[in-house]
Amino acid sequence: MSVQASEAFLKVLNGTPSVAQQLKAVTGIEEVVRLGHRHGFDFTANDFREASTFYRPAAQAPEAPVTTSPQPRNTTFLHHEYSLEDIPGFEAVIDELPRLKVRPPTVDLAEFDRSYRPDDAASTNRSPAGPEYQEWHRTMMEEGYLDPQGNQHTLRRDFHLVNLDDHTEYPGYDEYFDAKTRTIGALENLFDSEIRFSGSMWYPPHSYRLWHTNETQPGWRMYVVDLDEPFENEHDTSFFRYQNPQTGQIVTLHEKPRIVRFFKAEQDPDRLFWHCIVNPTDRHRWSFGFVVPDDWQDKIRVR
Ligand SMILES: [Fe+2]
Repeated sequence: MSVQASEAFLKVLNGTPSVAQQLKAVTGIEEVVRLGHRHGFDFTANDFREASTFYRPAAQAPEAPVTTSPQPRNTTFLHHEYSLEDIPGFEAVIDELPRLKVRPPTVDLAEFDRSYRPDDAASTNRSPAGPEYQEWHRTMMEEGYLDPQGNQHTLRRDFHLVNLDDHTEYPGYDEYFDAKTRTIGALENLFDSEIRFSGSMWYPPHSYRLWHTNETQPGWRMYVVDLDEPFENEHDTSFFRYQNPQTGQIVTLHEKPRIVRFFKAEQDPDRLFWHCIVNPTDRHRWSFGFVVPDDWQDKIRVR
């Protein structure tokens, strides 16, 4: 293992289109290490970080790109949501879902359940602009933003979910990664533009991502969402919740299997897109996020 091996892999990344294509499916340093290993380069995450500080031009390799529009569209819709089956071009993504919806055996679900915080979950029922939320948030920050019970994959209290891409050391990961790479190819065909994964999340039963804005990574996001089984009641579901920055209205989008959702993360303090995701049910939920081009709507044709 060495910094030299990391540097050699960075050169391969920059000089080999097929490997550069694989990199679009990578969202974290653990995946870079695993991808390097697949290509015969043995290095650690720290080796790669060190090599990235002096290697050019690939220092930006593992980061998702920030896309901003010089002339933002004035849309009245803050979100767009479709059934995957209703959009031609998503067939290949639907085909990959069984290989994307993994449950890595390295995840300890008993420990996951133990780190559930009802007080944190309840914060999603309040407006992020309201005094009750502000008071809860102040207390959480005072108590410690990081969960002292958590291991390296459940450190942050605002993420009670599993980042699939933190789990690369189990049989089957490579198959999952190859499915991600094929998904990128299918989406690039559909949008006729470069697409990157921004995050692949598993929301086991009783999981949540608390209120946040993604303001540090502005731009359009696309999330493909699926479940292990349909909900029995259309009101008792996982949901995506956001606050309309103009009106303050809280909007809750109840979910069902095989949907795709688009929304735009904004940086302007008056237009911050506060949102949260909650799975209060016994179903397993997965979401696969992508950075998509600003003109994505031009490529979507709903059946
Ligand atoms: Fe988000």
